[in-house]
Amino acid sequence: MKKIDIIELILKDRSCDVQIAMAAPIFAPTNIALCKYWGKRDAELNLPMTNSLSISLPDKGASTLLESSEQNEIIVNNQSIALSSSFGKRLIEFLNLFPLRSCLRVTIDVNIPIAAGLASSACGFASLVKALNQFYAWQLSDRELSILARLGSGSACRSLWDGFVEWHQGERADGMDSHGELLKDTWPELNIEVLLVSEKEKSISSRQAMEHTIKTSAAYHQWPQKIDADLRALKQAIHEKDFTLLGETAESNALMMHAMMLTAQPPIQYSTPQTLALMQKIWNLRREGLLLYFTQDAGPNLKILFLEKDKLQVNQSINELSLNQ
Ligand code: PMV
Repeated sequence: MKKIDIIELILKDRSCDVQIAMAAPIFAPTNIALCKYWGKRDAELNLPMTNSLSISLPDKGASTLLESSEQNEIIVNNQSIALSSSFGKRLIEFLNLFPLRSCLRVTIDVNIPIAAGLASSACGFASLVKALNQFYAWQLSDRELSILARLGSGSACRSLWDGFVEWHQGERADGMDSHGELLKDTWPELNIEVLLVSEKEKSISSRQAMEHTIKTSAAYHQWPQKIDADLRALKQAIHEKDFTLLGETAESNALMMHAMMLTAQPPIQYSTPQTLALMQKIWNLRREGLLLYFTQDAGPNLKILFLEKDKLQVNQSINELSLNQ
């Protein structure tokens, strides 16, 4: 099945004729996976091999405003971007899947670095589908919007909500059962911060890296089992507010994802020497008693996890970490 068939299925008899002027840009948060999505069972529809679980960063993400225009135009962070650039091309290809009758000016503001493994495409596509839904008055459910966002970028299907979101891998060939779902539990004391190592665009896309890992890493067959165990542990940790269990599980899940990439042939390494030095320092701080964990996506940056009560001490230690780099 093709993306265009799924969009037709979701939109059914909804039209793209009526346009409702948007009063304000529409926001979607970025999400950080505590249990990662790594590997597709269907590359066209972005259907994953396993479930995954994320937490959204409430104040970090993308806002999208749509207006009708004489020609297609994409403005990202106040700059008009070439439709032939990689981000521009992805967005236009996505928009072209919809039966739109007129051209659009798409204005996106993203308050995180783009394509540096900080899930800018996740919040970008999620805010774009939310904006389309409002602009054309489709009145789609969050679940349907999650499926549409997934067609743009897999992990975008988890960016429709604030809080903890599980992405159900689903079993159907058309992926209509593969979408995000908000968990009931919340944890306001849980903090996540980005430890920026580099804002440079990643050397290899997550799409290519996943495909290469599945094909060539002997460790990949252990991944589904690892996911099952980690998902169970994370849900328990979230429900019981067991931060040690949450931190240990999230960190180990990210390390396994990177270990699979390191054992691919040829290996893929997103970490830089600075990333590895930061990991060592975090482990040292933990040995000294500070409850601080990290997770890492397809890039050299780390995201640190800690509790509100430790915020001051963590920020102080992090400042020292950065100063000593
Ligand atoms: O949605 P994509 O194709 O950008 O892949 C995201 C992959 C990771 O960020 C590394 C893991 C995840 O679950 O978000």
